[in-house]
Amino acid sequence: MKDRKPETRLVEAGRRAEWTQGLVNPAVWRASTILFDSVAEMEAANPPEQGVLHYGRNGTPTSWALCEALTQMEPGAAMTRLYPSGAAATAGALLAVLEAGDELLMVDSAYGPTRALCDTLLKRFGVATRYYDPLVGAGIADLVGERTRAIFMESPGTHTFEVQDVPGICAAAKEKGLITLIDNTWATPLFFKAMAAGVDVSILACTKYIGGHADLMLGSVTAVDAVGERLERTRRVLGQTAGPDEAWLALRGLRTLDVRLKRHQENGLAVARWLTQQPQVARVLHPALPDCPGHEVWARDFGGATGLFSFVLAGVDDEARTRLIDSLELFGIGYSWGGFESLALPADPVRTATRPAFEGPLIRLHIGLEDPDDLIADLAAGLARL
Ligand SMILES: Cc1ncc(COP(=O)(O)O)c(C=O)c1O
Repeated sequence: MKDRKPETRLVEAGRRAEWTQGLVNPAVWRASTILFDSVAEMEAANPPEQGVLHYGRNGTPTSWALCEALTQMEPGAAMTRLYPSGAAATAGALLAVLEAGDELLMVDSAYGPTRALCDTLLKRFGVATRYYDPLVGAGIADLVGERTRAIFMESPGTHTFEVQDVPGICAAAKEKGLITLIDNTWATPLFFKAMAAGVDVSILACTKYIGGHADLMLGSVTAVDAVGERLERTRRVLGQTAGPDEAWLALRGLRTLDVRLKRHQENGLAVARWLTQQPQVARVLHPALPDCPGHEVWARDFGGATGLFSFVLAGVDDEARTRLIDSLELFGIGYSWGGFESLALPADPVRTATRPAFEGPLIRLHIGLEDPDDLIADLAAGLARL
């Protein structure tokens, strides 16, 4: 692909004429059986490349277009595969690179179900997990043992938003011959170029900002060439695939990612900055604000901030936090994020390697596309009731 700016790539990537047939977007190609003219032709399509119709589980032009677009958003990436959710994508990526007897270095601020995968299924299949301080940076080299095979990052971290020194960690990993993976859902490839930072495998919960409308479940894994074959082999034996409706919705969402993320950023920062001025708020954990651990790394490595962050309440208990969230009118209460709407959630980080001390309970906000003045008025009324 020609050397285009990321915003242009978002618009044109994956729109091959043979897939779109003149439509601007590819149609929703629904398929299980693909019919061939002869046994010879059927056998020639096996094993299939992406781009060769073979069997529904191996995709159709709708999913291939999304895969190609996501790959082209990551300079240095060779391929992308889809999964039925972000959690499934994480499992698919880790199972592709790990074997019984391996040790995985997992960031201590990882998304809860990622931790659960390590502590249950991976453990049962003989993979040990060691959790590490999200702020360890190049010091990760000291944690690498004989059996260490891979390092998993999530930056910024779930609930606590520590920004990791991904280039530093990847450089140390390369020296030791380790595979690096990242959950890049918060920044998306628009705000953080994972492969350019040295990462081998980048995971997205497309459920969030790629879809952008809170109406689909989908995950993706984008990988460098050296990992691609293992990833695809593992996906096939696990039978992982994504429906064409989800792929189509995600592709449609991807086209407007740039304008949506910039608005999430602007609104998020307006609310976050206002929160820093409120006496009921001890701290705001937003990667673009100096109080957030790793803020300098964010300023160095990221192209922007999205709309998800946390704040710490000063001197109140969990019940007061619940009352505050329940009282909000414009913030929905529910899991996930990345849609056009604002959300609020009690955030209770689970940590084992490091225990950051907070002045009170945490609330995680997702700032949507509403007018930030309305959101601030809603939060002001809630905080005044504390
Ligand atoms: C950082 C992060 N990664 C992965 C996931 C999992 O995505 P999904 O809900 O599509 O399984 C989530 C979901 O909230 C998330 O917040």
